[in-house]
Amino acid sequence: MNVLIIGSGGREHAIAWKLNQSSQLEQLFIAPGNAGTEKEGINVDLDITNFEQIGDFCLEKSIEVVVVGPEAPLVNGIHDFFESNEKLNSICVVGPKKAGAQLEGSKSFSKAFMKRHNIPTAKYFSATKENINDGIAFLMKLKGPYVLKADGLAAGKGVLILERLEEAMVELKSMLNGKFGEASKSVVIEEFLDGKEVSVFVITDGTSYKILPEAKDYKRIGEKDTGLNTGGMGAVSPVTFANKDFLDKVDNQVIIPTIKGLKKEGIDYSGFIFFGIINVKKDPYVIEYNCRLGDPETEVVMLRLKSDLLELFDGLASGTLSERNVEIDPRTATTIMMVSEGYPEAYEKGKSITGLENVVDSTVFHAGTTKNKEYNLVTNGGRVMAVSSFGKDVPTALAKSYNSVNKIEFEGKNYRKDIGFDLIKE
Ligand code: AMP
Ligand code: GLY
Repeated sequence: MNVLIIGSGGREHAIAWKLNQSSQLEQLFIAPGNAGTEKEGINVDLDITNFEQIGDFCLEKSIEVVVVGPEAPLVNGIHDFFESNEKLNSICVVGPKKAGAQLEGSKSFSKAFMKRHNIPTAKYFSATKENINDGIAFLMKLKGPYVLKADGLAAGKGVLILERLEEAMVELKSMLNGKFGEASKSVVIEEFLDGKEVSVFVITDGTSYKILPEAKDYKRIGEKDTGLNTGGMGAVSPVTFANKDFLDKVDNQVIIPTIKGLKKEGIDYSGFIFFGIINVKKDPYVIEYNCRLGDPETEVVMLRLKSDLLELFDGLASGTLSERNVEIDPRTATTIMMVSEGYPEAYEKGKSITGLENVVDSTVFHAGTTKNKEYNLVTNGGRVMAVSSFGKDVPTALAKSYNSVNKIEFEGKNYRKDIGFDLIKE
């Protein structure tokens, strides 16, 4: 099979690395990819917002499977575009159509969906300029901290958690007045839930589904989960507090009702669902849905997935996912994200990366890397590379990842030194 992966981060490198192990793979293309995906397949310079260009490329290269890494092309209808074109509609697009992608693309849609299907989630109110007084009344009924979420996609920045009611009221108004542009014309106000978070992933053809390894990611830039939010500074899988009992609850109370709910509403969903779950006194609540895999979670999930990923995609294409097997490596996988100094705020690019050849114990997934004019490896983003390793437990896997991180150098290299800190003590 010929496959095209859309995206350019660590997640896409990990997917490319995994697909490259499949005996069914013929040609693999990554658009636009990075210096790491270049080792797994052929990078192609396509504009991921230009569906027509992507479609033409697929016809030219006889692509059978398109794996969409990030959410934006899904929310903007790449799957719908392929389906509505008779030359493209036999290609399997891994990722939902617009209707299903609303699970991620609209927080008010996803909250209302959960309410309709009795899926546990924080109490909420969906505020707009028109009902702002009711929104403020709802805020006043809550105890702090106060959670405000821009309805639409806001590059991971659309969630504010505020300690004081006055601040929350000011921010609510500012969001409705366009603080995050169109994305915050509608704002979900939520009850704050206190607990530990875990990311749970499934692949589904809309009827059957397979659960992939769960993972915990570390979103804050600073040690002990402090400082600004980032795209993710590291991940660990499995997650010790997500034991069998807990994951059974996630399956019964969240996953099954979600997949049944989609079907009942006539939303034909094919691809990944990422459930952002919070464990509140041993009960799961949905914090968010995403319509794709997580990054950097994928950099541990792909390590632990023993089954052939392309066979699972083939299951989606042929509606035979239920007959496919998902085998998971019982070992622990960890990933440490090496980032550029300054990230998640301003940072420089183009710094030479050295030492990769000395890494023996880890798999290094590139995130923001490229080759410069002289064809040397250089940094090209805030998140530069995810260093993933296996171990019999969290400390062993982490020791390998950190050992490898120490071998890779670039000017301004930064990383969190405490990934997994909260899982080791348990
Ligand atoms: P989201 O984009 O909805 O995942 O929110 C980003 C982050 O904000 C989550 O990963 C949580 O850490 C936090 N968060 C979101 N909603 C809540 C909530 N209701 N209670 C507590 N924390 C939340
Ligand atoms: N790691 C969280 C995300 O991909 O949204």
